Amino acid sequence: MCGIVGYIGEETASSILTDGLNKLEYRGYDSAGIALYHEGDINIYKQVGKLENLEELVAKEDPKGKIGIGHTRWATHGKPSIPNSHPHTSCNGKFVVVHNGIIENYLSLKERLQSQGHQFRSETDTEVIVHLIEEYYNGDLGRTIQEVIEELEGSYAFVALTANEPEKLVAVRQDSPLIVGLKHGEYFVASDIPAILKHTNQVYILDDEEMAVITKEGVKVLTVNGELINKEIFTVDWDPGMAEKAGYDHFMLKEIHEQPESLRRAISGRLSNGNSQVILDELNLAADEINNYERIYIVACGTAYHSGLVAKYLIEDLVRIPVEVDIASEFRYRNPLVNDKTLVIVVSQSGETADTLAALREAQDRGAKVIAISNVVGSTIPREADEVIYIHAGPEIAVASTKAYINMLIVFYLLTIYLAQLKETISEEEIKRLIKALKQLPNQVAQIIKDSESEIKRFASDYAEYENAFFIGRSLDYAVALEGALKLKEISYIHAESYAAGELKHGTLALIEEGVPVIALATQNSVVDKMLSNIKEVQAREASVTGIVLSDEDEVFKSLDHTIEIPTTEELLTSILTVVPLQLLAYHVAVERGCDVDQPRNLAKSVTVE
Ligand code: F6R
Repeated sequence: MCGIVGYIGEETASSILTDGLNKLEYRGYDSAGIALYHEGDINIYKQVGKLENLEELVAKEDPKGKIGIGHTRWATHGKPSIPNSHPHTSCNGKFVVVHNGIIENYLSLKERLQSQGHQFRSETDTEVIVHLIEEYYNGDLGRTIQEVIEELEGSYAFVALTANEPEKLVAVRQDSPLIVGLKHGEYFVASDIPAILKHTNQVYILDDEEMAVITKEGVKVLTVNGELINKEIFTVDWDPGMAEKAGYDHFMLKEIHEQPESLRRAISGRLSNGNSQVILDELNLAADEINNYERIYIVACGTAYHSGLVAKYLIEDLVRIPVEVDIASEFRYRNPLVNDKTLVIVVSQSGETADTLAALREAQDRGAKVIAISNVVGSTIPREADEVIYIHAGPEIAVASTKAYINMLIVFYLLTIYLAQLKETISEEEIKRLIKALKQLPNQVAQIIKDSESEIKRFASDYAEYENAFFIGRSLDYAVALEGALKLKEISYIHAESYAAGELKHGTLALIEEGVPVIALATQNSVVDKMLSNIKEVQAREASVTGIVLSDEDEVFKSLDHTIEIPTTEELLTSILTVVPLQLLAYHVAVERGCDVDQPRNLAKSVTVE
């Protein structure tokens, strides 16, 4: 959360900074600002609300300067307002800072600085950093910052600029992501890769307790104690077009439509010739090791957690190891039963989610091996995990996750088959059958989008009128129903709940009355008869039912208000298909309601604070 950018070079910094912020807006969009150095002064431009407000201001003022820093904010300390937005300035106006993270001891630092005469203008934790820099400044910004961070507790990535040494940016990282983009004579700083992809694919990925001193002559990477580091350059393999909307109205819609392609990328290179085996060369797991594990924990947040719920069904069914799925923010504080006989799988699209990272560290401290499933190469969670499987979804910009979710699922399918191969819990025929079905999934997703989108768009206008919706399913459909409800509520602000269909009569049925929308997922043949009974229960209370079904042959399905058919596949693999109509429904309902689909209120994509 919060996006930071920096630029030093020969181009007009304001447009490079606002363009970079545009690519980082998914990290926060309460307010935005830039600071530019020009002819001895630092000039600041800030606006509350979306980045477009700042872009308008910048277009009007046309500020000069070839060095600057910028920020897009997701408010933590202090409401969205001009004083609380970044960059923050020192009393004498000579120092500016943009920051992502939380300075936990800011109150005591603020009191001390105030008693030393510093005037604070904001309610933020960040402002203490810039006052400390001013207080400690010794003629060298880099060395000053080394002293300042000795005082800071919490998580931070920040970039500072001073009018005293205007040809320099200093960037520091502790528990919040930060990269430095390298191009001859031009250098960029950013919280995430899409911000600089247009300019360069050569980056330094800063680690915790590292800082970069950036001038036009080059970049020095140092430890926070001032020791020079010979940092390796990382080459990003995303192409710049991946971070653009490409003609779609929203990134979310583009990302839903990209799913067949992103699934193909995740499968590519992971099947043997003849499609008889799954190959996960990136994993270093032997059969002995797998046999030693008594339990698997899958730990994640939000949509990534929902992918883990699907994986529980798969792994328990095919690998026959008990699986617990835990919300990372609970796992890290609840004394989990984890030791060297536990395999922990953490799942994170961004690879930066604070709670998931903390859970990973907790699991490692307790002796467990940790496998990360992630989308962002070089992000913190994959770097700290013992093993990594990348989902290869490409950059996901919309705050609501779609293609990352289904790529997490396909990776879990591959991993499950791989573990079952090692543990010899499934036959060769079964593996071949599953792989054959798995290879068809990308085309089947494309078919669902093609066949169902216009129908879903049509009935989305009915849904747009409701304030509540219920999603029901059994078995794997229940896990997907949770994701469908999350998608609908986060982007359309309709209150949506998901229930295991068999649970309805234990309380929730009391809420079902005439016209209440119920989305019933009925794609699990083994429990479809039970689902039919649950559908009849809600129909008897005059709910308006939409079914996601394999075929609408059954009389009950024929009687539904709407049905969306999905193609047939192996029962265990249906989730990838079932979720697609739910994503489309959430998207079109949100558009109907006039919601800001890509940047829903109060949310941010990469949750790097607790
Ligand atoms: C919802 C959504 C979030 C994320 C969650 C974890 O659409 O995207 O629920 O899934 O914040 O994020 P990652 O996967 O980056 O750890």
